[in-house]
Amino acid sequence: MNEKPMLVLGTMSGTSADGIDVALARISGAPPNLNAKLLGHTSVKFPPVLRKEILRVAEQHPITAGTLSQLNFRLGELFADAALAACRKFRIAPKKIALIGSHGQTIFHQGKPINYLGHTTTSTLQIGESAIIAARTGVTTVGDFRPADIALGGQGAPLVPYVDYLLYRHPKLGRVSLNLGGIANLTVLPRAAKPHQVFAFDTGPANMLIDALVSHFTHGRLRFDENARLASQGRSVPALLDDLLRDPYLKLAPPKSTGRECYGHAYLKKLLALGRRYRAKPNDLIRAATIFTALSVVDALNRFVAPKTKIHQFIVSGGGAHNPLILAQLSAALPGIEVLPSSRLGIPESAKEAFAFALLAYETFHQRPANLPSATGARGPAILGKISYAPPR
Ligand SMILES: Nc1ncnc2c1ncn2[C@@H]1O[C@H](COP(=O)(O)OP(=O)(O)O)[C@@H](O)[C@H]1O
Ligand SMILES: [Mg+2]
Repeated sequence: MNEKPMLVLGTMSGTSADGIDVALARISGAPPNLNAKLLGHTSVKFPPVLRKEILRVAEQHPITAGTLSQLNFRLGELFADAALAACRKFRIAPKKIALIGSHGQTIFHQGKPINYLGHTTTSTLQIGESAIIAARTGVTTVGDFRPADIALGGQGAPLVPYVDYLLYRHPKLGRVSLNLGGIANLTVLPRAAKPHQVFAFDTGPANMLIDALVSHFTHGRLRFDENARLASQGRSVPALLDDLLRDPYLKLAPPKSTGRECYGHAYLKKLLALGRRYRAKPNDLIRAATIFTALSVVDALNRFVAPKTKIHQFIVSGGGAHNPLILAQLSAALPGIEVLPSSRLGIPESAKEAFAFALLAYETFHQRPANLPSATGARGPAILGKISYAPPR
């Protein structure tokens, strides 16, 4: 262990665009003996008008280059505010922080090449200007993690599997690390896995559909179904659930990734139409979306994971890990597999992804690659991210 410990902040806002999660980590060493300890975490909600604008842009509504530029810089200010608020909360002076890793806010992700102006093009865009974060906090900031992987023919996602590998690989147990954000994604860590044996993919929607339904039915009064209160009041409509489970995305072989482009507003309209067809009440539909989330994960496990490797444990993180109905459905449908919230292994559910970007930034700082080609489909290893240096002190 030749590198001295660094304090690193990770900031993350996922496809739910609910707010910014911040994690403080103390990291030392180098893989495979990288030592990372989560010291604290916090989160800051987005102001409602800003969230509305992010969702509008992420739904690919028309936007001028000027507005996009403004949003990028405004979000940079908010990420910086969140990092500074975290420092106050953790009672640590920003100058003690060596590095920030900021994932930013994804507003577009096209992980597979599509035709654009006569050429096939893959691209992704995370915004929240890192130069602003570095200037406001005085801390060198790594942002824009995904393009380097895309430049090597990868999907630019998922990137967390590298961290899952470092944190969760086990000599005797086959594990799945499942993150339930707006989208659900899993990392498969076969027993005693080597990096090239790790694979990962998005299984489909997680909270995105539930949140959209709740906010639709409550006219924006509620943003999510806290502790599955509404879903628990709904009744099951098996035919509706079967219909949802016929989703062609589920059958698509990995590597695959999805997002708001697929499960955004147009999908909400489809859900509402299905609800009318099966005479489902609002809470019935919320229940169906919740159970669909759990069962699409189970479907992915049975279809693409179980035939290849034995899984003993599911480690669940992300906001959806707080949804008791999703967890109960997972446990019930995965006999013989232990379903554990990530806090049971020391990383609070809401801190996991922010913690991961602190680790990824640390790797970038040390000029080490941190994509897993087996997870992203890239031709080879990539050093991720772009560095915005702090102004000289
Ligand atoms: N107590 C809870 N009960 C049910 N759902 C919850 C709870 N807490 C958080 N969530 C869900 O988690 C979502 C946020 O999860 P998060 O991991 O931040 O996703 P993302 O990475 O997409 O931002 C919320 O929008 C909500 O749907
Ligand atoms: Mg979030």
